[in-house]
Amino acid sequence: MLKNSLLVLSMVVSLCACQNNKSANSMKKYPVDPMSGKDAHTQSNADSVEMQHLDLDIAVDMNRKQISGCASWTINNKSKAKELRLDTYDLTIDSVAVDGKAVAHSLDKQIKFLGSALHIPIEAKSSLVKICYHTGKDARALQWLSPQLTHDKTHPFLYTQSESIYARSWIPCADGPGIRFTYDARVTVPKGLLALMSAENPQAVNDSGVYHFAMEMPIPAYLMALAVGDITFRSIDTRTGVYTEPGMIDKASNELADVGEMVNTAEKLYGPYRWGRYDVLVLPPGFPIGGMENPKLTFSTPTIIAGDRSLVSLIAHELAHSWSGNLVTNATWNDFWLNEGFTDYFERRIMEEMKGKDYADMLWELGYQDLVDNVKELGDTSRDTWLYLDLKGRDPDDGLTDIPYEKGSHFLKLLEQKVGREKFDPFLAKYFSSHAFKTITTQAFLAYLDSNLLKGDAALEKDLNINAWVYGPGIPANCPRAGNERFAKVDAERERFLKGTPPVELTTSEWTTHEWLQFLRKMPAKLTVAQMQKLDKAFSFTATGNSEIADLWFIMAIRTDYTNAFASMEQFLSSVGRRKFLEPLYGEMIKTPKGKAMAKRIYQKYRMNYHPLAQESLDKMMSK
Ligand code: BES
Ligand code: ZN
Repeated sequence: MLKNSLLVLSMVVSLCACQNNKSANSMKKYPVDPMSGKDAHTQSNADSVEMQHLDLDIAVDMNRKQISGCASWTINNKSKAKELRLDTYDLTIDSVAVDGKAVAHSLDKQIKFLGSALHIPIEAKSSLVKICYHTGKDARALQWLSPQLTHDKTHPFLYTQSESIYARSWIPCADGPGIRFTYDARVTVPKGLLALMSAENPQAVNDSGVYHFAMEMPIPAYLMALAVGDITFRSIDTRTGVYTEPGMIDKASNELADVGEMVNTAEKLYGPYRWGRYDVLVLPPGFPIGGMENPKLTFSTPTIIAGDRSLVSLIAHELAHSWSGNLVTNATWNDFWLNEGFTDYFERRIMEEMKGKDYADMLWELGYQDLVDNVKELGDTSRDTWLYLDLKGRDPDDGLTDIPYEKGSHFLKLLEQKVGREKFDPFLAKYFSSHAFKTITTQAFLAYLDSNLLKGDAALEKDLNINAWVYGPGIPANCPRAGNERFAKVDAERERFLKGTPPVELTTSEWTTHEWLQFLRKMPAKLTVAQMQKLDKAFSFTATGNSEIADLWFIMAIRTDYTNAFASMEQFLSSVGRRKFLEPLYGEMIKTPKGKAMAKRIYQKYRMNYHPLAQESLDKMMSK
C-alpha cells in the first residue's frame, strides 16, 4: 500500500520536476517521500528555534536513583517562534526561566514512545532557557546498578543509553538525530566515584566528586552519554585508552591493545579522526547492547572480552561510527541504514586491513547469514525489509533489525564491487568530509551518489538496481556474497562429525571464534544428547568464556534438552544483560512447555538485573 502511494507520488513529482538539474533527475529515478527528513519521533520545534548549546549542571544520586539539576539551552529564535517545545520522558520539571526570568511552562500528556512535550513561552530575542528538573523511575535511558551487579561488587554504577530516543528521559532536549548542539557539563557524583561523558574526559577520580566536561563539536541528543562508577583508566597510546572497573582493567586493556592501531587504520581508509581522543569504556555485564558509539568514548559490553581479542570487530564498528553516524548522521530513524549499514561496511574494511581478507570474509559471511535469517523472520515482502524504513507512529527500536546493518552494508559492498575500490574509497572519504557535522536523508544520499559516483552511467545504474535495495523488500538478486575459504574447511569438519568422526579427530586447532560460530550455526536444528555430550567433552562449550559461542551453544542445549549445560546457562543469564543474547535464549526456551517453565523461573529471578528496555521486551515475550 505504502509502496504504491510512494510510486504515485514519485510520478506526480516527476511530472512537475521540469528543471533539468541533478536532483530533479534523481527524483525521477527514485520514489519521493514527501515526509523525507521529517522526524516523527521528536515533538520539539527545533526547526524554528535553533538549539545551539547546552550547559548541563546535574547531580547524580546513586541511592535515590535520580539525576537532578538544570539544563540551560542557548537558543537562536530565528523564526520568532512564540514557544520553545522540547522532548521529555518521565521528567519532573521543577522550574523554567528564560533569560533569567521565571516563566510558566506546561507539560503535555505523555504520548506512547514519545513522552511529554514541554512548552516554554519565549520571545523573538530570547537566548537562554534554563530548565531545572529531575528524572523519574521510568527513565528509559538509565540503568542503575547496585554493587552486586557490577564486576567488582563494591560500588554502585550508573550508565545511560540515549539512542535512539531516550536522551529525553534524562535531559529535556530536542531529541532528534537531525538536531545538533555543543555542550558543557558539570556533574556532581558521590565522592570516590568517577564520572565520564561523551566529551573530553577526566582520567582519574578527584576529591570533590565534581567533574567538568566539554564537547566542542555539535552532536545530536542520542549521543549524550554519562557513566558513573568505580572506574579506572589505562592508556593504549597517546590518543586512545580504556576505562573500566579496577578488577577488569588488566583483561580489558589486554583485549583492546590494538585499538590505537585500529584508529590509525580507519584514518588511512577514510580520512582524519575528527574527535580528539578515542577511549573505550568497558561496562558491567548488564549493558543491554554490544556497543554504543558515544563520541570520544565508546561504551562497550564486557562480553567482547574473550581473552584472545577475537571479538574486537565490535570496537571497529563503534569506532567507524566516528565517521558514519557521529560525523555524518542519519536525518531521521527512517534513514537508520545510513548510520548502521555504512558502519558495518567500514568495520569490515578496518578488519580486512588489520587481519586480512579471509578474516573479513568470515565477518561478511556471518553477516549475510544474519540477513537471510532476518528476512525469513520478517517475511520477504515485509515493509521493514526496505532500507528506507517507515517508523512513523512506531517505536524506533522496531527498526533495529539486521536489515539496516546487513542489507545496508551489502548494498555498499555491491557499489564497491561495481565501481572498484579505487573509485569507491575516495567517494566515501569525500562523502564524510563534505557532510561533516551534518545530517543526511536517504534521498539526499542517493542524489549525492548519482552526482559523485554513478554520474549518469545508465548501464551501471541498471546493474545496481538501487530501487530494489532502498525502496524494495527482501534480498535483491544482485546481493554480493563473500567467498569463504576458511568456512569451507569448517563445513567439511562438521560433515565429518555428523557422519560419526569423533570430535577429537576433527581438525580445529587453527580455528578462531568465527570458525567455531560457523561450526555451530550450521549444525542440524536438533542434535542428539549423545552428540552434544561428545562435542562438549572435546571442546568444553558449556564452560566457554566466549559469549558468542556460549550463546549459540546454550540455544542448541535448549533445543536438544541437553541439561548438563543449564546451570552454566543460568549463570550466563544471571549477569549478562545484552539483548542480542537474552532475547534468542529466552525465545528458544519458551517454545516448549518445559522450557517455558524454566524461562519463567530464571526470568523472575534475574529480571531486576536487566536494563529497563530489555525488561520491556522480555516482559512482552514472557506474557505471550
Ligand atoms: N548504535 C548502535 C547501537 C544502537 C542502535 C542502540 C540503535 C540503540 C538503537 C551500535 O553502534 C551498534 O550497532 N551496536 C551493535 C554492535 C555492532 C557490532 C553490530 C550491538 O550493540 O549489538
Ligand atoms: Zn552501530
